[in-house]
Amino acid sequence: MKLTNETKKSLHPPEKILQQGALLAAGPVALACSFSIEDVVLIDMIQRLQLPITVFALDTGRLNEETYEVAEAIREKYGIRIDWYFPQAEAVERLEREKGLFSFRESLENRHECCQIRKVEPLKRALQHLSGWVTGMRREQSVTRSAIATIETDSANGGLLKINPLVDWSSEQVWQYAELHHVPINRLHRQGYPSIGCAPCTRAIEPGEEHRAGRWWWESAEHKECGLHRR
Ligand code: ADX
Ligand code: SF4
Repeated sequence: MKLTNETKKSLHPPEKILQQGALLAAGPVALACSFSIEDVVLIDMIQRLQLPITVFALDTGRLNEETYEVAEAIREKYGIRIDWYFPQAEAVERLEREKGLFSFRESLENRHECCQIRKVEPLKRALQHLSGWVTGMRREQSVTRSAIATIETDSANGGLLKINPLVDWSSEQVWQYAELHHVPINRLHRQGYPSIGCAPCTRAIEPGEEHRAGRWWWESAEHKECGLHRR
């Protein structure tokens, strides 16, 4: 889908971007939810505005217990269904039999292999029947995200619409919204984890470290993407 300059200019706060994105997609739209604070804030907005946007999540098999707990709290609070996607069992079995349970620590290639099996391939299936998908990405999160647009054509995934309503929000704005609207928050966020992914690939950060410093902390900043957001 091609966006006119006129449409792009008129996009502002997250709620408006969500509304406009859902309209522009002109077909099924879903939020990709990792249950980090950004994504649960988006669920709250979607529910308050009663937008026709469903929620899916990728269960990599290596998520933190705290993430499953907040997922259940969200399901109960909003009465919504979460469409969980699992990796292909055979691919995980092969990977673990051949390379063990922590192969992702051995090389960038191995790490990409694990992310490909546990995240990217399931994402492809989740996006198959969608006209648009929503993410909780923000520009200030990292060097790899400084150029993302509010609404863009996702050419890496067949040209569906990718809607990033929080691109311009700061971490403070996200927290203010979550607290004002009593949105369930992943307990790890208050334990030094601004960014939460798979348990063995995420650690708490030290004061002054950047937002995604705890993700794949053994790798350099320009590699800190898992392949979900190829550009
Ligand atoms: S990522 O490198 O794991 O993709 P991050 O955790 O910052 O980065 O997530 C960015 C966005 O990707 C989230 O806001 C969410 O939309 C999507 N996302 C990440 N992990 C998952 C997941 N496990 N399930 C569904 N969506 C996810
Ligand atoms: Fe595998 Fe780590 Fe990627 Fe999760 S984040 S899919 S455990 S490499």
